[in-house]
Amino acid sequence: MKVGGRHFRTIWPKPDDECIVQLIDQRFLPHRFVIEEVRTVEQMATAIREMHVRGAGLIGASAGFGMYLAAIEAALHAELSEFNQHMARAAAQLEATRPTAVNLSRAVERQLMSISEGKTAQEKSLLALRTARLIAEEDEEHCRMIGQHGLGLIQQIARNKSGKPVNVLTHCNAGWLAFVDYGSATAPIYAAYDSGVPLHIWVAETRPRNQGSKLTAWELGEHGVPHTVIADSAAGHLMQHGEVDLVIVGTDRTTCTGDVANKIGTYLKALAAKDNNVPFYVALPSSSLDWSMRDGLKEIPIEERGADEIKHAHGWLAGRQVDVCVAPERSPAANYGFDVTPRHLVSGLITERGVCEANEKSIRVLFPEHA
Ligand code: MRU
Repeated sequence: MKVGGRHFRTIWPKPDDECIVQLIDQRFLPHRFVIEEVRTVEQMATAIREMHVRGAGLIGASAGFGMYLAAIEAALHAELSEFNQHMARAAAQLEATRPTAVNLSRAVERQLMSISEGKTAQEKSLLALRTARLIAEEDEEHCRMIGQHGLGLIQQIARNKSGKPVNVLTHCNAGWLAFVDYGSATAPIYAAYDSGVPLHIWVAETRPRNQGSKLTAWELGEHGVPHTVIADSAAGHLMQHGEVDLVIVGTDRTTCTGDVANKIGTYLKALAAKDNNVPFYVALPSSSLDWSMRDGLKEIPIEERGADEIKHAHGWLAGRQVDVCVAPERSPAANYGFDVTPRHLVSGLITERGVCEANEKSIRVLFPEHA
């Protein structure tokens, strides 16, 4: 997508030195646009854990490039057995960074498979670069297709609005910053906007890290899409008053039975949507489908992060990043990163292969190779 009129992806190998991976460091948005250079798997693990990069698809792509950087390091060892040990350590290090998005372990496993096909260290490193690029390209293409399939849903609603804007509500950032390009929840929004459908987006701020107000609002603004930031708790009120036509959110992991893990607060929005007959859609590339899990509530690992994210607010003042405490210093805080929305609250899944119901039968019709 475009930033200041120039096209960017969120991650790419540095054009004049492919031993370096460049990425947009999201910690500084929306106030500064910073590109970080990552040289080691250790640095990539930090970038994922500390959320310089975040969002299911981008976490997967970053892990893919992290494994490539690990392969460059591993190639310095004299023995092939040491190469393999280095890669196993790198895989474990990356997988330990964040537990909820299934894209991460999937990318690491895919890299291990692909590297195992190389006979020499050099061959293995080249395979790792090729696979990292492939993971990123597939992510981008799948998100583009999600946009095409979701566009139909928005156009259908627009037909009954006699020229008035379609009001879409979204939570967190499942935008292009959360993937390599386009985004999942935002891809239909961008496709509809680009094809002239009048639109307005309610952007839930998404405490505690404010990915909605910091990232989604910035993205939509850069693209020119009309939007309004709201407090997370305002969503139900807006739905009760007919101000929301459609909810589209992303997901970090969806079971093959249709249970959806997404940023904390998603479940409450799904409940409010059900109570107010507002369609609630989840947009996802198939890399976020977990074919091994059937019960999202029992099985999906929910990340818990530090209490400081809850007790502190973080922003910019006079050109500087500042951090202020907004809770009693001594009060404990619990910081659950994600929740699970059960399938019966989900109107449908928007995937790269089309829209389906949030149930196993319907998902497997779109992805018969997993039957
Ligand atoms: O903790 P984050 O920012 O990595 O969480 C990911 C998200 O932004 C959301 O859960 C998103 O809706 C799904 S990721 C496409």
